[in-house]
Amino acid sequence: MSSAIAASRGMPSLTKLTSLYLRVPSAKAAPLRSFSSIARNPGSLCPGKPGNLISHKPWTTSNPPRYFSASAVSLHGHVDPPKAGEELYVTFIDKEGDEHKIAVNKGDNLLTIAQAHDIEMEGACEGSCACSTCHVVVEDEEMFDKIPEATDDENDMLDLAFGLTETSRLGCQIVMTPELDGLRVKLPSATRNMQASNFGKK
Ligand code: FES
Repeated sequence: MSSAIAASRGMPSLTKLTSLYLRVPSAKAAPLRSFSSIARNPGSLCPGKPGNLISHKPWTTSNPPRYFSASAVSLHGHVDPPKAGEELYVTFIDKEGDEHKIAVNKGDNLLTIAQAHDIEMEGACEGSCACSTCHVVVEDEEMFDKIPEATDDENDMLDLAFGLTETSRLGCQIVMTPELDGLRVKLPSATRNMQASNFGKK
């Protein structure tokens, strides 16, 4: 929007807004940085330091630094191998009945683990609890009871799952903890993807 049009509508011009809130640094002051380097050190983006992206006021006690949100980068289908002695084990039983026992880290979820190890789990919504293509059946009822209860969103999606059972869960919502060491889950013979045809029909 031009300054003239903005002014005629009683709005501050983009130029004015930019000078107030966004000081785009020169290449010399702030070389381009990768997102992962920002995520590792979000404090480097705070106002008042050279190279900031937001820098309209210096820090004071009444104007403390504010930060961009820089959540950890989620690397789709990537998990780090566990350190020796810290492994937890999960076993996937695929549609052919073959077992895949995998050493994982605390905090990994079953979708990410499966995708990192070429186990056929679709995960159409990439773990946002908006599909049922990461449906798994927990083999052991005792272990099932150790998994934190499903949220309403997960239950809604499970209602759409093919071959729902009493011990069904969404793989993306199961996060490995020491209590779940030794977990065994079966992959159903098919999944129901509302957006595309099934990858494995019965
Ligand atoms: Fe869609 Fe788990 S990947 S709900």
